[in-house]
Amino acid sequence: MRKSKPISYSRTTITELMIPSYANFGGKIHGGILLSLMDKVAYACASKHAGAYVVTVSVDGVNFLQPIEVGELLSLHASVNYVGRSSMVIGIRVVSENVKTGQQKHTNTSYFTMVAKDDNGKPTEVPLLELEDRNDVRRCLEAIKRKQLKEAYKDNFDNEKSSMTIEENLHLLDNERVIVKYIQF
Ligand SMILES: CC(C)(COP(=O)(O)OP(=O)(O)OC[C@H]1O[C@@H](n2cnc3c(N)ncnc32)[C@H](O)[C@@H]1OP(=O)(O)O)[C@@H](O)C(=O)NCCC(=O)NCCS
Repeated sequence: MRKSKPISYSRTTITELMIPSYANFGGKIHGGILLSLMDKVAYACASKHAGAYVVTVSVDGVNFLQPIEVGELLSLHASVNYVGRSSMVIGIRVVSENVKTGQQKHTNTSYFTMVAKDDNGKPTEVPLLELEDRNDVRRCLEAIKRKQLKEAYKDNFDNEKSSMTIEENLHLLDNERVIVKYIQF
């Protein structure tokens, strides 16, 4: 196995035409189709860097803010942003293009964490990541910050959840659009 690989080695783009069978009842592309394509490009990119079979472990930053139309060409650009021992963060930029006008829209950027596995299904070490330009360094630093913030959020939330009682927090429902029909003190 190579000890290190540049980001450019595994950079991957998948381009796919959005066909009518991908659409929901409103005529826009299903979120699930987009997720599946993002998983596919993340797999291709991560397995190329790892030189191994990989699995998806977590997905961050999936926000569908712009609808994608049938007939548009969707391009998913993936690159390794960060590597741990066996894990890799793959950044995916999704761009949709109207083929007639050439107009492009950036629909979302998401981050998939993939883990490389050996032949026995155990997490296995991946090559070091070579950062070749300023953008590579920026994306890597952002991935580290995201990881730190996610860990802090998880710790905070776990603490809040374990000490939370329904009675002390019922007031949070006061301004919500719910009708509480079950209260047993
Ligand atoms: C994720 C998985 C590989 C962790 O295995 P494990 O035996 O607990 O191994 P480890 O604790 O050594 O974790 C391996 C790596 O995963 C990372 N990891 C584990 N859970 C994670 C999470 N929730 N988010 C991000 N990374 C995570 C660890 O940080 C570690 O990274 P590193 O090697 O770069 O330091 C294992 O739980 C798994 O195979 N899950 C199923 C994945 C799958 O099938 N996905 C397809 C979708 S159905």
